[in-house]
Amino acid sequence: MAKVDWKPGNMLYPLPAVMVSTGAVPEEYNIITIAWTGTICSDPPMCYISVRPGRHSYEILKKTGEFVINLTTSDLAYATDWCGVRSGRQHNKFEAMNLTPGKASVVNAPTIEEAPVNIECRVKEIVPLGTHHMFLAEVVNVKADDRYLDSETGIFSLDKAKPITYSHGYYYEVGKKIGKFGFAVEKKKTRKKRLGKPKDDA
Ligand SMILES: Cc1cc2nc3c(=O)[nH]c(=O)nc-3n(C[C@H](O)[C@H](O)[C@H](O)COP(=O)(O)O)c2cc1C
Repeated sequence: MAKVDWKPGNMLYPLPAVMVSTGAVPEEYNIITIAWTGTICSDPPMCYISVRPGRHSYEILKKTGEFVINLTTSDLAYATDWCGVRSGRQHNKFEAMNLTPGKASVVNAPTIEEAPVNIECRVKEIVPLGTHHMFLAEVVNVKADDRYLDSETGIFSLDKAKPITYSHGYYYEVGKKIGKFGFAVEKKKTRKKRLGKPKDDA
């Protein structure tokens, strides 16, 4: 096996491809597709989106200091792509994609009702990095579609909503479940039980 060196670049894939909704009033509501996004802190819950200053959404984000991250699904893949190649300067993306702006619980930015999860965010800091500026934000509320909530256990099953990811220019459905958090250690216990305690437990 041989490894080749590539010039420095972003190779962290797969990524989420989310639809970020912005705007304080219906006339300025907009949607931008974002892949440069992630979770950065558990408590307080914080995340980021990185946006090029040239985007129509950039000015809205800067002015309002709020946005909603809407998780995407197979059913929303077309709209996700479309909102990532068309600008709100020329289009009303909610209308064009037949998406429904909903009322968020805490922020003024709209939710996308068709998304299974809406993460309401308030900008804490804008970090100019280069091509992109990072909007560091606190998550102030999360709305989840109760169709994916188990009525008995209350467990939310995002996989039922068929979430999608983005990798090297293509969209993918999330694949087969192959393990649960902590399964690596659970497996050891099972093996021990099955095989009896090994002599040397290193
Ligand atoms: C899958 C995908 C991911 C994208 N990720 C980003 C991103 O992380 N940051 C960004 O500034 N633009 C990103 N874009 C480009 C914007 O979504 C695109 O330029 C959009 O038309 C901007 O809309 P606006 O002008 O209405 O704000 C992405 C586009 C696609 C299709």
